[in-house]
Amino acid sequence: MIAPGSTLGILGGGQLGRMTGQAARSLGYDFVVFEPQDHCPAGHIAGLEINAKYSDRAALELLANSSDVVTYEFENVPVEATHALEKRVTLHPRPEILHICQNREREKNFLRDNDIPCAPFAIVDSLSDLENALATIGTPSVLKTAAFGYDGKGQLKISQENPDTAAVWEQFGKHRAVLEGWMDFSMEISVLVAANEQGEISTFPVAENIHTNHILDYSIVPARISEDLQRAAEALAKDIARKLGLVGLLGVELFVLRDGTLAVNELAPRPHNSGHYTLDACVTSQFEQFVRAVCGLPLGSTKLLSPVTMVNILGDAWIGRDPDFAELLKHPEAKLHLYGKAQARPGRKMGHFTVLADTADASYQLAQDLKTKL
Ligand SMILES: Nc1ncnc2c1ncn2[C@@H]1O[C@H](COP(=O)(O)OP(=O)(O)O)[C@@H](O)[C@H]1O
Ligand SMILES: [Mg+2]
Repeated sequence: MIAPGSTLGILGGGQLGRMTGQAARSLGYDFVVFEPQDHCPAGHIAGLEINAKYSDRAALELLANSSDVVTYEFENVPVEATHALEKRVTLHPRPEILHICQNREREKNFLRDNDIPCAPFAIVDSLSDLENALATIGTPSVLKTAAFGYDGKGQLKISQENPDTAAVWEQFGKHRAVLEGWMDFSMEISVLVAANEQGEISTFPVAENIHTNHILDYSIVPARISEDLQRAAEALAKDIARKLGLVGLLGVELFVLRDGTLAVNELAPRPHNSGHYTLDACVTSQFEQFVRAVCGLPLGSTKLLSPVTMVNILGDAWIGRDPDFAELLKHPEAKLHLYGKAQARPGRKMGHFTVLADTADASYQLAQDLKTKL
């Protein structure tokens, strides 16, 4: 066990790192952040902020020497950095998990090889691959870049029945990709699962996720699906965590298909945007659970204290005028979290708020009303 009083190091300094650092500090840990860009959200609350490239061996050495345990909050950290670190300091989750989850091709192969339900897919690396893939998977389908995609970036939906494949391949940019069958889902949900080295494993209540322009807009908890389906999603997330050999936290994004079955969309080996509701609505937040898991502490209760809806606040809210936070804060049910980012840009996650209510429906209704007041 890496006891309170020790130092947690983290690769990546965005809002996920910031909120992890806040949880670590609450538990009495010191906190070090490693992030290429200076003035990062996590840097504001870190005892030490190391600004260097992920390939900078001396800077990684400094992180290892300054930390008792290291983790990451960002899946595009080069896996080599984690390999270098694990030789010098305890690091969770193990680099192989990062390696799998940072690449859609490896992630999809992992799911298929482990009999975990997911969309039909084929790997595409040339125009002829794309033609073959479309012949088996058909349309509608979606071409997704194998590496470095987020918030719908690096994706191209193919809806037309007989598309001009050469034009599609050209437009996509000819990157190595995964072609996925389009899933006819009735809902998108997610489950966060945590595991520690002692073998404890625990899930958070299932979130129902509503995306706008491919970016998470609302998470509603509990998800408005049957208890059985909630239990099935939690069981699937635990199964994935065990098969990965997870120590840490993993976000599992799923589709609820029209026939009532589940298919896994994506895995994220870190805190997840759809788990921010836990800060205000659960006994233990996802960030505290993450710290507990990587430090080998007992896992905390994930009990939901109240139905809740989380709303992302994007940089778009700053266009024309500054958001009216006072108006939002007048409502005692609303809890505001801002990430301390100086520059607002369209689509950039600047903060979030949560709204507690007696039912999920009521919290969602109120959240929508309050969003218009920003
Ligand atoms: N195969 C699919 N079928 C239907 N919708 C999809 C499919 N893949 C992605 N989407 C939609 O696009 C969103 C973003 O895709 P995702 O693979 O999660 O990428 P990322 O979150 O990394 O941008 C999903 O949340 C879902 O709404
Ligand atoms: Mg996603």
